[in-house]
Amino acid sequence: MKYVIANLKMNLVTKSDCDRYLDALVQCCRESQAKKNFSAIVCPSDIYLERFSARIPLGIMLGAQDVFWETKGSYTGEVSPLSLKEVGVRAVLCGHSERRLYYGETNAMVARKVKSVMDNGMMVILCIGETADERAYNDMAAILAEQIASATESVSADQLDRFVIAYEPRWSIGSDMVPTTREIMEVRILIRKVLTEKYGRDAADKVAVLYGGSVKSELMNQVCLDADMDGVLIGREGLDPSELLKIANLLGTSSEQ
Ligand code: PGA
Repeated sequence: MKYVIANLKMNLVTKSDCDRYLDALVQCCRESQAKKNFSAIVCPSDIYLERFSARIPLGIMLGAQDVFWETKGSYTGEVSPLSLKEVGVRAVLCGHSERRLYYGETNAMVARKVKSVMDNGMMVILCIGETADERAYNDMAAILAEQIASATESVSADQLDRFVIAYEPRWSIGSDMVPTTREIMEVRILIRKVLTEKYGRDAADKVAVLYGGSVKSELMNQVCLDADMDGVLIGREGLDPSELLKIANLLGTSSEQ
């Protein structure tokens, strides 16, 4: 299965922003000729999850941008995985680089969030990626391998059909700079190797591996299709439902061939 995941971040800030977005999304889905061989997931702000849940077109899944690792208790400002499930969330982003950067999320914290999403039956979208400095001066492969090893610590082989990894280089997010096809392929191979060593080939193959960072429909060959990725995680482009559907259609068409 191919995935397009739209992380709307904190961009739809009023009810009318959400309603305008949903109107356009419903309209685009109605007009779309695509055969349904992709999975689309849209992740709005938590406060509008219910609003989305009520109107999200059939066939598009509802996702959340983050979660807390405990289900209940004195954790001011946090959101329980049970609450997400209750309002119809099926997938949760874990370890997005903006969470790592602005909120100090460590690999250990991400691992607890992954476990909480898994334990509660939702799909994990684990975000991994290196900063520009890590790419220039460090062992980037070791950094990515450690992010995967840590996040999968408590994940069992039979849960991998609910586990998606998005490779999102930090320097590419919001910057309009993207890696080459070859660089993305190298990371895909690395991710598959780390997973295969831990789980064996058959189980590891169940994990969808996506690319994220400055994705646009015109770049789909470079960042996804030619690199043999299983889809994309999009930020800015996902704010335009027609672009979201255009990207989904490119994925759907490619998986028919
Ligand atoms: P971008 O964001 O597509 O706007 O670069 C991607 C992301 O943060 O997932």
